[in-house]
Amino acid sequence: MKIPTITTRRLVLRPFTERDVGPLHRILCEEGVLRYFPNPNPPARDAVERFVVDQLRRWWQDGFGWWAVTPRSRRALIGWNGLQFLPETNEVEVGFLLSREFWGRGLALEGALAGLKYGFDTLGLESIIALVHPENRASRRVIEKLGMSFVDRARYFGMEVDRYRIAGGRSAVRHASGGKRSTSGTKRTRPQRGRRRSGSEDRH
Ligand SMILES: CC(C)(COP(=O)(O)OP(=O)(O)OC[C@H]1O[C@@H](n2cnc3c(N)ncnc32)[C@H](O)[C@@H]1OP(=O)(O)O)[C@@H](O)C(=O)NCCC(=O)NCCS
Repeated sequence: MKIPTITTRRLVLRPFTERDVGPLHRILCEEGVLRYFPNPNPPARDAVERFVVDQLRRWWQDGFGWWAVTPRSRRALIGWNGLQFLPETNEVEVGFLLSREFWGRGLALEGALAGLKYGFDTLGLESIIALVHPENRASRRVIEKLGMSFVDRARYFGMEVDRYRIAGGRSAVRHASGGKRSTSGTKRTRPQRGRRRSGSEDRH
């Protein structure tokens, strides 16, 4: 499959490439970026290489994954955003991570809205979840602004998280701006049951 590229008002969501390994490694080593992840320690570079390869595999296998995020105005990688299949629970999770320099500008919300729109309009998903560490207030705020509803506190990736969910057709997503696809080729794909993979492998 050809991984789609999506352009929003200020962002480009595009496939990861090998060239993203160095910049992504630098972002993941920034103070606080992984603070609320299961493993908050800065990853080794080869772990980031494996992450990028795994993301491309996920697109092939699941029909979706994280996109590399860059501003429209320049090519530099600033983070990731997108959808991830969780085989243990057969759910699809929306996720986002940005370099600190880009926090506080509404960019995570903008990228996540495009991800939800893709999940509902292109993939035909019935619902999408978000998982947030109970103390990660910025992420929780983004999730709430996405129009997602709190479901419960649950254990994922070996830690307690708050789980939120949104069903297709909710207003926050329906009225999302941007989300223009600049390439096509993605099959209409739903997550399939029965594929075994550790949901924590790319939480590094
Ligand atoms: C979570 C993250 C992606 C948010 O990115 P962002 O682009 O700054 O998010 P937005 O600007 O769209 O919105 C952030 C919201 O949280 C609020 N916020 C930020 N820090 C906050 C804090 N410490 N306490 C409460 N609210 C906070 C902002 O005020 C904003 O809300 P507002 O628009 O109502 O003012 C970014 O902080 C990040 O990359 N963190 C590290 C990775 C991570 O934790 N990812 C989430 C994993 S679930």
